Amino acid sequence: MLGIRKSLFLKIGGKWGLKLKTIKSIKVQIDQFGYDHNDPILENIEFKIEEDEKLGLVGKTGCGKSTIAKLLTKFYNTEGIYINNKEIHKYRLSDIRNKIYIVFQDQVIFPGTVEDNIQMGSGVNQKKYEKILHENFMKDLIEQLPNGLLTKITEAGDNLSGGQKQKISIARLLLHNPELIILDEATSSMDEKSEEMVYDSISKYFSNTMSLIISHRNTIENYCSRIIHLEK
Ligand SMILES: Nc1ncnc2c1ncn2[C@@H]1O[C@H](COP(=O)(O)OP(=O)(O)OP(=O)(O)O)[C@@H](O)[C@H]1O
Ligand SMILES: [Mg+2]
Repeated sequence: MLGIRKSLFLKIGGKWGLKLKTIKSIKVQIDQFGYDHNDPILENIEFKIEEDEKLGLVGKTGCGKSTIAKLLTKFYNTEGIYINNKEIHKYRLSDIRNKIYIVFQDQVIFPGTVEDNIQMGSGVNQKKYEKILHENFMKDLIEQLPNGLLTKITEAGDNLSGGQKQKISIARLLLHNPELIILDEATSSMDEKSEEMVYDSISKYFSNTMSLIISHRNTIENYCSRIIHLEK
């Protein structure tokens, strides 16, 4: 359990914490974490992600891979997550959210056009956006849609396949410049060819970006420099 001073720091760290300039290393050293105090999900977990490293994280369903991803982005608080050898909760939450970009399996898709969904509001670098449209996985997506990028997505998002939605999420990622990318089953609904095209683009845009790739597929071996297995 956290002491009063520490839990207070967890709260204020969000707003007035240290400025996170550049992410140079990530260390996960968790003795125990559970959503419920009586039910630990993660126990004795220890690994590092070094600068420029592409680390794969595999393990069976329910072993806690997505939980680690959420702890790294401060969706939940725990002790034992370090950025540049300092506990994550010492940093400003806004810096963490700006520098760490996570793509989940089911990213939020909202009613609007496919283009709206990729750009998600103003402030998009149009030149970069146009360039992304020429990536093979995007050409493939655009070709399949009845009105290309202007295809309207329904309220429930059910006029797109799972893999097509995932391609939109990847296009959104390519528009950003994060310092750590976390892909949590981000291509799980795609066929192998699509997945390969997506990883080609990610490799091109983020060749030097620290990455954590969570997947059930062996294909991540082609992209990751090291793979760790989470036991449960
Ligand atoms: N918000 C939550 N509240 C309570 N328990 C949760 C919550 N999220 C996950 N869990 C539980 O934590 C455990 C680990 O879940 P997690 O999603 O991290 O597994 P995973 O390794 O990502 O699995 P998968 O390969 O199926 O995606 C599961 O037993 C799950 O039921
Ligand atoms: Mg998961």
